[in-house]
Amino acid sequence: MTSVSSSISTQLEQCSFTHLHQVDELTVLSIKHPIFQANIALQGAQLLSFQPIDQQPWIWLSPEAEYKQGQSLRGGIPICWPWFGVANKNPQDLAQQIQPDPNSASSHGFARAIDWDLMDIQESAHNVVLTLQLSYSPETLKVWPFEFKLRCTFTLGRTLKVDLETENQSQSTMKISQALHTYFPCKAIDNVRIHNTASKTITDALNGWSTTTQAGNQGFSGEVDRIYHTGGPFRLETGLQPLTLQSQNSHTSVIWNPWITKSKGLSQFADHRYQEMFCVETANVLDDCKTLQPNETTHLSLAITPA
Ligand code: BG6
Repeated sequence: MTSVSSSISTQLEQCSFTHLHQVDELTVLSIKHPIFQANIALQGAQLLSFQPIDQQPWIWLSPEAEYKQGQSLRGGIPICWPWFGVANKNPQDLAQQIQPDPNSASSHGFARAIDWDLMDIQESAHNVVLTLQLSYSPETLKVWPFEFKLRCTFTLGRTLKVDLETENQSQSTMKISQALHTYFPCKAIDNVRIHNTASKTITDALNGWSTTTQAGNQGFSGEVDRIYHTGGPFRLETGLQPLTLQSQNSHTSVIWNPWITKSKGLSQFADHRYQEMFCVETANVLDDCKTLQPNETTHLSLAITPA
């Protein structure tokens, strides 16, 4: 099991709702609060589930998810950092920061596949606020030659809030792309509508990365992998609890569903799972990447509420 500091162990002993447990190779924070239940893996600071009492889950986690060290679980909210997607599809000055070569770099950066430290837990009758932190290490410096500190704060209650703070602790300018890659559940993918997407500018990864305008509100009748040049808010009509996804400091959002053919090649994902999920990812990508001077910080945040 991942070790936690003695001060956090003491804090955990006094918690009423929050407990650590081991699932296969990963350490997971399990929160059972009177108004919701949630799970967060320390690896990747990945929120795995969130379910208000008497409601269906707001977040989708693959039934085939594997709790293994060094690989992100399929579902929840993976944190893509310090680059989003395929490294060399990022702006060139960002990709060139990646060592030894962006062409051999893993997709969506490294933050989702390594253990974060649990720093703080605050429990009340209304919510639970958890803070996890990731600092640079000899391993991260080999790939990403910058000193940095990441802090992710989850505020869980009647709403689900995630705030990711990046601090550039190096002496150099650091450029990042990033995303809170939220997987949402749906009753039937054909009936999903993402409102407030009509007439927005999109860059379509499946159409040569061309930039066009979306006609009607986004639905799914085939594979979708596109970047909206807006941070929302979006109203998600899913056949389950309708939700609103709001962002702060994001001007790009990725909408994704792998559909039939891509599903067959996806890890931790049975062939038919594309029918029950879709992603709306709160991002800073393309021209919305963030350039941080030494000691500068930036925040990327989302809030999910009932619509
Ligand atoms: C999305 C990308 O954000 O993540 C897709 O736009 C990608 O292109 C998907 O396939 C899943 O990525 P991964 O690395 O978690 O399988």
